[in-house]
Amino acid sequence: MRAAVFTELIGPEGVSVIDRDEPEPGPGEALIDVEACAINRHDLWILEGDSAMVDADDLPFVTGLDVAGVVSEVGDDVADADTGVEPGDRVLLCPNQTCGTCRFCREGPENMCERFSLYHGGLAETASVQADRLLSLPDDVDATTAAAIPTAYMTAFHMLRRADVGAGDLVFVPGATGGVGVAAIQLADILGATTIGTSSSPEKLDRVRDLGLDHGIESADTDEIRAEVEEIGTPDAVVNHLGGEFTALGQAVMRRGGTMVICGRTAGDESTIDVPDLFLGHKRVVGSTMGTQDDLRRLVELAADGRLRPEIDETYSLADTDAAFAAMRDRESVGKIVVEP
Ligand SMILES: NC(=O)c1ccc[n+]([C@@H]2O[C@H](COP(=O)([O-])OP(=O)(O)OC[C@H]3O[C@@H](n4cnc5c(N)ncnc54)[C@H](OP(=O)(O)O)[C@@H]3O)[C@@H](O)[C@H]2O)c1
Ligand SMILES: [Zn+2]
Repeated sequence: MRAAVFTELIGPEGVSVIDRDEPEPGPGEALIDVEACAINRHDLWILEGDSAMVDADDLPFVTGLDVAGVVSEVGDDVADADTGVEPGDRVLLCPNQTCGTCRFCREGPENMCERFSLYHGGLAETASVQADRLLSLPDDVDATTAAAIPTAYMTAFHMLRRADVGAGDLVFVPGATGGVGVAAIQLADILGATTIGTSSSPEKLDRVRDLGLDHGIESADTDEIRAEVEEIGTPDAVVNHLGGEFTALGQAVMRRGGTMVICGRTAGDESTIDVPDLFLGHKRVVGSTMGTQDDLRRLVELAADGRLRPEIDETYSLADTDAAFAAMRDRESVGKIVVEP
């Protein structure tokens, strides 16, 4: 089988497509004929050598979290355990990997697992995955659409839930054009909230308006954005996947008692908190990573109902995986980028 492997951690030029042995399903595993695998900024950071998780010793490395396809084979114990997963099933992988024994695995939410990690390996024709992390796909949801959902939409959904976003709320999403950003806009819209989103690109912002964004701010300058947000209103919640200087911006514009949920660091690992404003304003700043398998199940149902249409910018063949990463690096896309092995 062919796989897109990272052979050097130097950016898109470090991707090669090579032949590898077909994997065997181990205990608890299923093999998937991968039809689609979305990429995320997480994968790009690995490829750029900016991830604590993967270094030169791990090369060649196959990334790819968001796997959708058809089960081709299952481990003996999976067949015996009657897990409901069998060859021929159309499935979507929840990329969460948890220990199953810590207190968060026992009492939930599972994404707080003390040994939480993520599946990597979907950028290949065949992926060997944990069978109990597979959701069956309704006929109405094709593999490419499904692959767009896990990391971006599950993360955004969990963040909106952490901020208790509901009908009538005003939600601010700095960087509203990427995977998590577009997901946050679409899901806030489904929840009945009004949204403010930003982008450095007027063309990309127009496309997000078509997806339900209420107020678009075309700027990358936090002072300028702050002034424009203040003219629109006082956000109840901030979905912050950028970090850096966007954390101080989010804190400054949100209402008393508002919540900012942070999941990322695209604009920088360090942010400043205005401490008096935090306590005098009764504001909350919350960290969040991924979501639960049940969040993902709900999102697949929303997609099957036609209420959620995950936004896919472009699909790429496995041979063009390097171009998919270049598009993400160059900030060319709106929504998700999906590779179709
Ligand atoms: N903790 C978790 O579980 C989790 C899960 C998913 C994602 N994340 C994190 O969330 C972030 C977004 O991930 P993603 O996959 O959605 O990425 P993505 O699709 O590449 O996000 C693109 C968005 O980020 C903006 N952007 C890119 N570089 C920027 C910069 N230097 N300064 C300001 N804005 C910038 C773009 O703005 P323009 O429109 O102006 O180009 C665009 O709106 C990443 O930090 C990722 O690691 C975390
Ligand atoms: Zn655990």
